[in-house]
Amino acid sequence: MALALTFSTGKAQLDDLIRELQLQHLRGGGARLISAHQANLEAVDDIDRLFSEIRQAHGKRPDVLVANAGYAKVIPNIADIPLEEFDRAMAVNLRATFLLVKLALPAMVEQGWGRIVFVSSIAAEGGGINGCHYAASKAGMNGMMRNLATKLGRHGITVNSLAPAMIGATGLIPDESILKGTPGDVVNIPVGRLGTPQECANVIEMICTTGYLTGQNILLTGGLK
Ligand SMILES: NC(=O)c1ccc[n+]([C@@H]2O[C@H](COP(=O)([O-])OP(=O)(O)OC[C@H]3O[C@@H](n4cnc5c(N)ncnc54)[C@H](OP(=O)(O)O)[C@@H]3O)[C@@H](O)[C@H]2O)c1
Repeated sequence: MALALTFSTGKAQLDDLIRELQLQHLRGGGARLISAHQANLEAVDDIDRLFSEIRQAHGKRPDVLVANAGYAKVIPNIADIPLEEFDRAMAVNLRATFLLVKLALPAMVEQGWGRIVFVSSIAAEGGGINGCHYAASKAGMNGMMRNLATKLGRHGITVNSLAPAMIGATGLIPDESILKGTPGDVVNIPVGRLGTPQECANVIEMICTTGYLTGQNILLTGGLK
């Protein structure tokens, strides 16, 4: 397996992750080749350059696309959401996802196999702690996912989304203290704790290894609605 990972501003965190993955490989698992690529997904040119770099580093385009990068500045009330924040959420979460799929698809269609996974959010279903700008961008991703799934199945390509909520140890939710008094407060989560990035990865792995699953948005919320 080979991995092409992206970052926008968090090079240090990505370097840490790559070191961890390289250690895993030395112990007999994990990815053989890992490349890192800087890209601001708000910039169309950066997305084009990203695909050229991936082709150079790996000699091919990706078989599996996980559109995980997301912009989620928390502004709960519409009255406080400036137009620029609405536009940025749409550009990073929805427009970039559209462009990533467009660039990844030709190679997947040609080889008759591909996996596309969008990282959406409980916000797309009306839940979560953020405002309607973020919810609209994630709901747009779900609509795009369902449309693409019906069109791409015959090419051996599945398209699904993961909709997490209250995942700790992330930029959005470093720990549970920032959720106190919000709808995402741990006291409101039926399983009584935050989710983990590893649990998100578990679901993405299941999606990628289950070719009969397509057009689905899988909620990973600890029972939170
Ligand atoms: N944490 C949760 O509870 C939760 C819940 C629902 C959905 N999600 C979704 O999960 C995904 C991952 O978020 P996270 O929770 O892991 O938060 P995070 O740690 O803040 O990760 C966000 C990621 O998006 C990247 N990103 C942001 N703006 C970007 C841009 N303009 N261009 C390229 N990359 C950009 C960031 O890159 P840099 O760090 O390099 O800048 C970072 O890797 C997002 O799509 C988010 O909406 C998370």
